[in-house]
Amino acid sequence: MAVADDSAKATSSRAGGPADSSQAWSELAPDYERARSREDSLDRLVEWPAQRDLLGDVTGLSLLDLGCGNGGKLAELLGAGAASAVGVDASGNFLSAQPTGLELIQGDLNELDSMPSLAGRTFDRILFLQSFGYAKDPVQTLQSARAMLTEDGFILLTRTQPIRYAVERAEQNGTSLGEEYFSKSSYTYRTGWNEQVALTKRTYTISGLMNVFSAAGLWIETAVEPELSEEARRRYPHKQEWMNKYLGILIFKLRPRRGSDSGHRR
Ligand SMILES: C[S@@+](CC[C@H](N)C(=O)[O-])C[C@H]1O[C@@H](n2cnc3c(N)ncnc32)[C@H](O)[C@@H]1O
Repeated sequence: MAVADDSAKATSSRAGGPADSSQAWSELAPDYERARSREDSLDRLVEWPAQRDLLGDVTGLSLLDLGCGNGGKLAELLGAGAASAVGVDASGNFLSAQPTGLELIQGDLNELDSMPSLAGRTFDRILFLQSFGYAKDPVQTLQSARAMLTEDGFILLTRTQPIRYAVERAEQNGTSLGEEYFSKSSYTYRTGWNEQVALTKRTYTISGLMNVFSAAGLWIETAVEPELSEEARRRYPHKQEWMNKYLGILIFKLRPRRGSDSGHRR
């Protein structure tokens, strides 16, 4: 599976019992990064170019990436002129060569308010790239992130199209798209990155996601459903086939709603 993925909870079958996402991701992380670095990975072909496009010019900006993976995307943004970059990831599977200005912290995005390295700091851009599904209390997590935004700051958040999981489950269970899309039951599956690790996912809907943003005092400035470029379609028809079936990801640029309790750090 080449598309970057997010989930609510994960179970390591090697560990032989339920664990939180951090434990499963300490096993999964190297496999995920290997898959992501393939020349035909959807992260390379679709997701990162679209995320990069929405971030725009990062010259002189401070960045915080929550669930940053190995920190590679932040390293690239520093190369593009960002002033500083902090990455938080549960796995601790970080780049061995880190550029100046990059700070990588092994930590839990559910504990933003009690992370000493983040205390009192603000950021121009806060990223949740395929990691928001790990928030145990999504509204609270977004409120904590929102409080760390500078005055003109925004949050860039991406999630897998929930329709993708509904299509997969409908095929597996012999049910319909609607039954699975609106199902409230969580489900478990093994990732293509490492068959030994099973991920348990909470279902979600597009309206549910939008209501979470609203409840956290954020508004959607832009929403994008990125597609393969013409050239990538020709070069990687198997990826277009995948996209035709599963759609890919949703990307949201979120800004604090003025007038609601901002909680900005100044
Ligand atoms: C699908 S990967 C995405 C990585 C990266 N953001 C990207 O776009 O390539 C999800 C990441 O979330 C991290 N993660 C999972 N649960 C987490 C948690 N509770 N706190 C922080 N990071 C977490 C994983 O370790 C993994 O690196």
